Amino acid sequence: MLAAVGSAVGLGNIWKFPYITGEYGGGAFVLVYLICIALIGIPVMMAEILLGRRGRRSPINTMRELTRSEGTSPVWRLVGWGGVLTGFLILSFYSVVAGWAFAYVFEGAIGSFNGLDGDGAGALFGDLTAAPDRLIFWHTLFIGMTVLVVANGVRSGLERLITWLMPLLFVLLAILVGYAMAAGDFARGLHFLFDVDFSRVFTVCDEAGQCGYTAEPVLVAMGHAFFTLSLGMGAIMAYGSYMPRDASIASSTIMIAIADTLVALMAGLAIFPLVFANGLEPGAGPGLVFVSLPIAFGAMPGGQFFGTLFFILLVFAAWSSSISLVEPAVAWLTENEHLSRPKAAWIIGGLAWVLGIGSALSFNLWSGEEYQIFGKTLFDIKDYVTANIMLPLGGLAIALFTGWAVGRRLPESELGMRSARLFGAWHFTLRYIAPAGIVLIFLNAIGVV
Ligand code: PFF
Repeated sequence: MLAAVGSAVGLGNIWKFPYITGEYGGGAFVLVYLICIALIGIPVMMAEILLGRRGRRSPINTMRELTRSEGTSPVWRLVGWGGVLTGFLILSFYSVVAGWAFAYVFEGAIGSFNGLDGDGAGALFGDLTAAPDRLIFWHTLFIGMTVLVVANGVRSGLERLITWLMPLLFVLLAILVGYAMAAGDFARGLHFLFDVDFSRVFTVCDEAGQCGYTAEPVLVAMGHAFFTLSLGMGAIMAYGSYMPRDASIASSTIMIAIADTLVALMAGLAIFPLVFANGLEPGAGPGLVFVSLPIAFGAMPGGQFFGTLFFILLVFAAWSSSISLVEPAVAWLTENEHLSRPKAAWIIGGLAWVLGIGSALSFNLWSGEEYQIFGKTLFDIKDYVTANIMLPLGGLAIALFTGWAVGRRLPESELGMRSARLFGAWHFTLRYIAPAGIVLIFLNAIGVV
């Protein structure tokens, strides 16, 4: 279960949640995201864990085995394959952002944050992202760290470390929230995060001042529910395969979801008051966290220490997530192709490294319009398509497979819930509510409903 928390809590909570919440206007977006966690994320996570624990193999082979033993269509095996591809694509931009955190460990340590104002923080981040060599250097280091852990099978070592570091990250976030209360515009931050104003979030206006409804925030909120819980690509299934028989899947899932959500909300509570107090733009994009928090570290007592420590913890949180991104692929390669674990890890890491170069260049050499598709850079596209399309599709398939294709007995025995009513509620949500929600949100996004 701790491994799953390590996978779930990562850049998604501290980097992505605040930046997309800022971009999509706050409260109403947060509410939709929380509803998606409860009605889609939690039921799908229970399904993914139970499939993994029943299959006891890599996701690809778990799906193969289950389709065979349950006599279902082999099409469901695509879940395993799709997951491997998605994990790859995610790692290839995740490691660039983890690289920013890495670079900021050193910026913090040498005192670059001291006395920083909004412009200074923007310049510090701008200088980093404008330098392809620096981005590629940190990206390479992070992929290397990920591969080393996976190759040597010392995951449990890192996970033991994470059990100490995760609470520390929590404490540090609490300190930051305290600082934001004292020095930031806390009331405005609170209103931004929790005032639900659907008209503001679901309205877009073009340059000519024409305004209309947009379904995009709902799609992004759902996508983020999958991303932040590491769902829909087999990462949690792979971890489920190591889960002991006597552990309760339902309560583990609830605990993971609560811990993950708390971290995200705390990051939001720390960041938005600072954003407003320093005249920053909530919708500034992927750099939001990296321009707002350094201002706080630069001004608070002991900020040089806290700043360095914070980014160290962020790198560790990203690290424990990234190993889960490659786990499905590596587990499968070692099972089927008779490759050694190190070889498999280096192959997967090497491929993600190559793909990741494009993500690093998206902020400098390839940032121009001639390199964009639909106004998005390669980095943006990978971020958008994996979270908002590929993970929900994987989640939909997992929900349908577990809820419909395998019948009732398998999940019933695997979950072993004491209350038949609770099991019934979960089964109903998984069969009807989660799939209908995902499909409706998809259809809404493409303008059909
Ligand atoms: N859940 C991770 C985060 O919030 O940073 C990201 C992630 C890890 C997504 C593993 C998907 C995954 F399989």
